[in-house]
Amino acid sequence: MASFDLDQPLIELVSQTSRNYWTLRHAFEGTQIFGGIGSGKTSGSGRMISLKFLKAGFGGLILTVKPDEKDMWQEFCQIAGRSQDLAIIEPGGRHTFNVLDYESKSHNQQHAITENIVEVLKTVIRAGEEKSSGKNDDPFWETALDMLIFNVIDLCKLSKGKLSILDMYNIVQTIPKSMDELRAENVEVKAFQIAFETARQNVTAQIDKWFASLPLSIQEKLQENDALFEEQLFGAIPDARLLKFLDQFFFDNFIGLSEKTRSIIDFTFSGFLFRLLREPVYSLFFKNASTITPEDCLNGKIILINLPVKLYHKVGRDCQILFKYVWQRAMEKRNVHHNGRPVFLWADEAQNFIHEHDPDFQATARSSRVATVYISQNLPNYYASMGGQKAEYKVKSFMGTLATKIFHANADIETNKYASDLIGEAFFEDRSDSLTVSKDFSRTRSRSLLVDKLMRPEEFVKFRTGGPLNNFRVEGVLHKQGDMVLNGQNHVKMVFNQQFIPS
Ligand SMILES: Nc1ncnc2c1ncn2[C@@H]1O[C@H](COP(=O)(O)OP(=O)(O)OP(=O)(O)O)[C@@H](O)[C@H]1O
Ligand SMILES: [Mg+2]
Repeated sequence: MASFDLDQPLIELVSQTSRNYWTLRHAFEGTQIFGGIGSGKTSGSGRMISLKFLKAGFGGLILTVKPDEKDMWQEFCQIAGRSQDLAIIEPGGRHTFNVLDYESKSHNQQHAITENIVEVLKTVIRAGEEKSSGKNDDPFWETALDMLIFNVIDLCKLSKGKLSILDMYNIVQTIPKSMDELRAENVEVKAFQIAFETARQNVTAQIDKWFASLPLSIQEKLQENDALFEEQLFGAIPDARLLKFLDQFFFDNFIGLSEKTRSIIDFTFSGFLFRLLREPVYSLFFKNASTITPEDCLNGKIILINLPVKLYHKVGRDCQILFKYVWQRAMEKRNVHHNGRPVFLWADEAQNFIHEHDPDFQATARSSRVATVYISQNLPNYYASMGGQKAEYKVKSFMGTLATKIFHANADIETNKYASDLIGEAFFEDRSDSLTVSKDFSRTRSRSLLVDKLMRPEEFVKFRTGGPLNNFRVEGVLHKQGDMVLNGQNHVKMVFNQQFIPS
């Protein structure tokens, strides 16, 4: 196995007087590329970094928003000699990934499976929520939705012995709206009741078997004492306990919720499941066996999900966030001592794919050797999609977890000001002063100094943006948090070539 040295240079940073390197170590600390429309994010810095990653043997995950991203990555992989490693999950393609199978198999304790799947589904649902509604910050709503997901999954497992999105959807759709509906006679018996009845029968059969296996004396003792019976039963048959919880949740709590609350929660969950049930998503992520898993990236596979958000909209986004989160959790579990291969997580128009656990993930990405590259035009894009209360604070603190930032030409004042502030201030000689007092020797010796921005916000407006008129050159400033980049400064102005080919 190739060894991967953390100090291996990826990008050379040069000025007339000095030279430095942006290394694997820096890549694992995360990168954010900003720039206005057509500023050269994708074809300038994005192209160079992705080709460097590919050439260095990284595995990776690529999420897509624009339909042309697949072609671009095919070209990049070809340039870097990595075409064999590219695995595309797309309609009509060769690769499928079964989320529920994967999550069920990657943990052995029965209980942990439900929790894992709830966590995954919940994260995706919450990432897709309308941020302005503030629903995301409402703890009641969140808990109620969690509990519904949890209990539906458990009911599905207890009645069918396995999980399927279709069964879950049918169950959610047919939970009675009221106790009256539940008691009504001559109504069609629907999925929810069938599932519950089946679960009850399954558990009853287990109980009968267990009870019959007990010595007569113990049977008698248990029959006389309900509390003791339940205690022994729950100890012996975990499913019995589960059924009791299901019973309490649905009949004592959920069915009795007010209509308005119920309908919000029902719609959120069933609407989500409904999208997953539609093709092509259903076949790609829920129906067929996995031909590829996140762990394959540790052996150099580059997974690209070709369900561009511009074409597939909400469901394209749901699936990609889902895969991204499952992938991130797999990478966190890796052991870098056994396999040190770097992997990258790539998202152009990244604001589409951010979820609530991203800040935590970024905090551990460095030690799991994941090089994240997020590309987005400006900060307000992130505010709108990370949103909720304190959007600006949340986004800026998240940005702090991506140590390298590259700023291309931008007309967004907020982002330019942010860049200028990050780069910071320095003392400059006040030239007007030194000119006017040039005759006075003692005054020139004590030239006055002014504090000013090293780069003013308006400077970012004028950067070159590539294309033939600029000889395919794209300008940008690379800023590295915490480290000196070049010449004792934390930033360097760079020129990227849109026709870059790695040597
Ligand atoms: N391979 C290429 N060769 C030459 N010019 C290109 C190439 N790719 C893009 N361009 C041009 O260079 C400029 C920068 O394009 P690029 O797609 O990199 O911008 P971007 O910052 O990613 O924009 P967007 O926000 O729209 O994705 C645009 O004018 C574009 O038309
Ligand atoms: Mg782009």
